[in-house]
Amino acid sequence: MDSKIKTADGTETFINSEFNEAYHSTKAGAYTESLHKFVLPCGIDRLVKEKERVRVLDVGFGLGYNVAVAVETAQKNNPQAFLEITSIEKDRDIFKKIRELSIPENLRDIYSQILSGGFEENIYTAEGTNFILRVIFGDARQIIKQLKGPFDAVFYDAFSPKVNTEMWTVEMFSSVKKLMDRRAVLATYSASLAVRKGLVEAGFKIGLVEPVGRKSYSTVATIEGDIPPLTEKERYRLEHSPYALPYRDSPDMNLPREKIKENWEKQLQDRLSKQSNP
Ligand SMILES: C[S@@+](CC[C@H](N)C(=O)[O-])C[C@H]1O[C@@H](n2cnc3c(N)ncnc32)[C@H](O)[C@@H]1O
Repeated sequence: MDSKIKTADGTETFINSEFNEAYHSTKAGAYTESLHKFVLPCGIDRLVKEKERVRVLDVGFGLGYNVAVAVETAQKNNPQAFLEITSIEKDRDIFKKIRELSIPENLRDIYSQILSGGFEENIYTAEGTNFILRVIFGDARQIIKQLKGPFDAVFYDAFSPKVNTEMWTVEMFSSVKKLMDRRAVLATYSASLAVRKGLVEAGFKIGLVEPVGRKSYSTVATIEGDIPPLTEKERYRLEHSPYALPYRDSPDMNLPREKIKENWEKQLQDRLSKQSNP
């Protein structure tokens, strides 16, 4: 049974009992995390001033904060602009949880539009004044193969690599990259070296985003867009740390999560023992 909790900025989230993790950083706050780790690092405020239609890929729809805050940011920056949002989510009961949240005043109207949609097979569609949202239900690893790009921004928000490992592999990042406009930015809260190295191996240039509610910087990735740079220290760690080891799936992305983790741990142990007995 998932339990509801209040986060640092007063907005609510849930602890997911399957993954034993919160949907949001409790220290940053659910709303604050969406704005500062996803929506602004992807440049939604800027994109809506440059284009009338902006396509967003939202991996891990969850409680819908990233989507709602993106819509709010678009409305504030250009009320004429339109967001076309494709979300992926595996939990078909997610809307029950959203209905239990007390939604912050500034997002109420947007959430009521998000919740006004309907299902057709595994796709939920909702139309709002300045957005259309399609949530495709199923395993992201399979759904991603069927999508058509190009997307202008990607919110990459699965549970942490330790518990949701299959979502953080080089194969998954390569599939997402194929769907992105060359200037699009992918944003994720993760600061894991394995994730950063995985993004690099998938062919992304990566950068760091100022921390919110914790010490570590979050991560952005792009093919050739503008992103903040990596620090020298992080560049060094990515080249020299034994932990800069990406997670790997099979080419068709169907290895069990435990197998992906097991392979990674074996390789890590190998690297660590070579380091201590060169
Ligand atoms: C950290 S939460 C997302 C929070 C959300 N972005 C928000 O703003 O409220 C991660 C989400 O990813 C979903 N997820 C995890 N593994 C998945 C998979 N293999 N395929 C699709 N969705 C997955 C979970 O069900 C969960 O809702």
